[in-house]
Parts: sequence; structure tokens; C-alpha cells
Amino acid sequence: MDGNGRWAARRFLPRVAGHKVGVDALRACVRHCGDIGVKVLTVFAFSSENWNRPADEVSGLMELLALALSREVPQLKAEGVRIHFIGDRTGLAPKVLNGLAAAEAVTAGNERLILNICFNYGGRWDIAQAAARLAAQGCAITEQSLSGAMALAHVPDPDLVIRTGGEQRVSNFLLWQSAYSEFYFSDKLWPEFDAAALGEAIDAFAQRERRFGKTSEQVLQDGAARKAA
Ligand code: IPE
Ligand code: MG
Repeated sequence: MDGNGRWAARRFLPRVAGHKVGVDALRACVRHCGDIGVKVLTVFAFSSENWNRPADEVSGLMELLALALSREVPQLKAEGVRIHFIGDRTGLAPKVLNGLAAAEAVTAGNERLILNICFNYGGRWDIAQAAARLAAQGCAITEQSLSGAMALAHVPDPDLVIRTGGEQRVSNFLLWQSAYSEFYFSDKLWPEFDAAALGEAIDAFAQRERRFGKTSEQVLQDGAARKAA
């Protein structure tokens, strides 16, 4: 969800004002995903590296998270959304930690849409914490054991990764899990990324041929075989 700061700067507003409108965009995106049958949505809200931003922006983002949770969770619960927070919880303030735990507990019975909110998250952190956990348990490190120990083990790998804000890089998001994801880069700033923009991304995804290392001919044959079965 990139571009909040630029959205605000273009309007001569403080950056935190952009993050506030970003919450509105996220609400709309979650709702649209639920409506069109997306089962899992994972968003990058705050990276391990975002602590390096100016202190007032960091504290503004922490406050916004707590406020957004208290305002949004009842409605999300009613809409069948199950929230998971993904990331390193050490170093988060008690108020924030309580908000995360409450949001997860209140929505734990839902299954219409899983919403993973990556907060104080980094792809490298996830790989390292999974490996460290396996090592401490004396488990062998394999692709399978690592996948199972990672913070997103409860969901399949993402089919589509969208980055807004015109930047074409991964910035430490889902490094392990996006090995075979389709990538879509939008020039829209996150506050402007609406249901129509999400629809365009999904349409583009639908045009892609996913080969998973195979040839195009094999993929076509597999598809024909599936249809015949
Ligand atoms: C939101 O966009 C990402 C968060 C860390 C919340 P940015 O704050 O990175 O916006 P730009 O890139 O400065 O426009
Ligand atoms: Mg940015």
C-alpha cells in the first residue's frame, strides 16, 4: 500500500493525513475482495524498516492503527473477515499489542475472507525467525519445514502481488511466498486505489499464463486434461 505520503504532499497535507485516507482505501479494498470471492488478502502496513521514518510519522502510524482497529473491527467482524497480524511483536507498545490481539480474537470465528495485516514485518525477518525456530527445535531445514514455520503458514502462497505508487520493487514483502506469484505494479497512489483499480489488476492477472517452470505446451495439455476429467 504505497503512496500515502505523496498523496498528502500533493495536497499540502501532512503525511499522516495520507495514511488516514489510506485506511479508507483499505476498507474499500477489503470489502470488494469479500464481494468478489477473494479468500485471502495480505497487506503491507508497516515494514521493519519504517521505524527509520521521522518519529512523528511513526507515532502517527501507531496511533492510526489503534484508532482504525477500534473503529473498524466490529464491522469487519460482521462482514466475515478474519484478521491476522503478521510481523515481529517485540518493540510494539502495549496499547498497540492489545489492539492486535483483540482484533484477532474478536474475528477468530470468521472465514469469509482472511485479512493478513503485515505490521512490523519484513520478508527477511520471517525467513530468519522461521529458521531460528526450527533450529531451536532441532528440526531439519527444508523448503517444507521452513514454509510451515513462517508467519504466513496458515494461507497458500499469494497468486497476485500488487504494488501501488509507481515503484517497481519488492521492498522486503513476502520474499519467500512470492516465488511464483504474478506481480502487478500500479502507478496509482494507494489512497486512489479503488475497486475499479483492483478489478484492473485482477483482469491483468487473469490474462497471465502461469507455467510454474513448465512449458506453454505442457500448461495447455494440463488444462485440457483437467477439462476432460
Ligand atoms: C504508505 O505509503 C506506506 C506506509 C509505510 C504506511 P508511503 O508512506 O510510503 O507513501 P510515499 O511512498 O511516501 O508516497
Ligand atoms: Mg513509500
